[in-house]
Amino acid sequence: MQQITLTQPDDWHLHVRTGDMLKTVINHTVRQFARAIIMPNLQPPVTNVAQALIYQQEILHAASSQYNFNPLMVLYLTNSTTVEDVRLAADSSAIHAFKLYPAGATTNSAQGITDLKAVFPIFAAMEEHNVPLLVHGEVTDADIDIFDRERVFIEQKLSVIHLHFPTLRIVLEHVTTREAVQFVQQAPDNIAATITPQHLLYNRNAILVGGIKPHYYCLPILKRETHREALVKAATSGNPKFFLGTDSAPHLSHLKENSCGCAGCYSAYAAIELYAEAFDAASALDKLEGFASFYGADFYQLPRNTQHITLEKTDWQVPDNYPVSDKTRLTPLKAGETLHWKLKESVA
Ligand code: DOR
Ligand code: ZN
Repeated sequence: MQQITLTQPDDWHLHVRTGDMLKTVINHTVRQFARAIIMPNLQPPVTNVAQALIYQQEILHAASSQYNFNPLMVLYLTNSTTVEDVRLAADSSAIHAFKLYPAGATTNSAQGITDLKAVFPIFAAMEEHNVPLLVHGEVTDADIDIFDRERVFIEQKLSVIHLHFPTLRIVLEHVTTREAVQFVQQAPDNIAATITPQHLLYNRNAILVGGIKPHYYCLPILKRETHREALVKAATSGNPKFFLGTDSAPHLSHLKENSCGCAGCYSAYAAIELYAEAFDAASALDKLEGFASFYGADFYQLPRNTQHITLEKTDWQVPDNYPVSDKTRLTPLKAGETLHWKLKESVA
């Protein structure tokens, strides 16, 4: 049997929600990852240090004490975020970044930013205090095609932020296009990107061929095959600007299998295994450890993990769903399909 051992990885972009959903998903993450960057797009959003500390406690409570998991908290930027909020975040060892959602771009982004220029003083404070900015990189203009929204955001918004705040550390989250890969590659070292498993494994045909498949619908939306190929190349290149961020985004099955289905793929149940499938398909398993375990920690200026995990090449069947409550379910990415890599349980 083939197996690979990796330094324990971290997930640099994760949604875990609250309540029953949190309890359903958190231990899927905790058994693989030492740390995760926790997205703040709750309802209401996590906008200050006090709220983040309460949320962090809820996560730690839900997580199995068998593992030593560290949730890295992020604050949600709103039009009312102040320079003082940035200073307090910089002083808190629990807070690792701010997240910019353009208002209306995705799930729970209604309180996001409506006028980028108006938050320039906040970006200045983040640059001064060395607090990273995590970006959902899509414009929301009704006249911009959904498949072009990331490219246009980079041209019209991200390049402007970077120009005005050249030393601000920025993560362009969940990149989905060749243009995003090129932007990050040519930028200085303070600009990096996360890549999800679904964007490495699938192109937009997965959503639309043979019927509408809502469990492949996420934002930014899957793009055409040439973009997927560019993402695989970037992830497996050994370039430290590209690292693991699942964007695992659980929604109840009935809210995705719906006439207005929610955006988000649930991948946390087998995140490292899904990445192993993608890297194996590209004959690049030797590049997985850097992408999954080193480059994100380096970018966030945190120590690399010292524990290890082992994956075995063995077939196993993904469950059709996970129960969330008596009556509700969560459907994972690749539900009912066979995965070829499996995490061995123990962290050593
Ligand atoms: O597909 C997505 N789901 N993209 C996002 O940006 C947000 C996420 C969510 O929170 O469900
Ligand atoms: Zn996300």
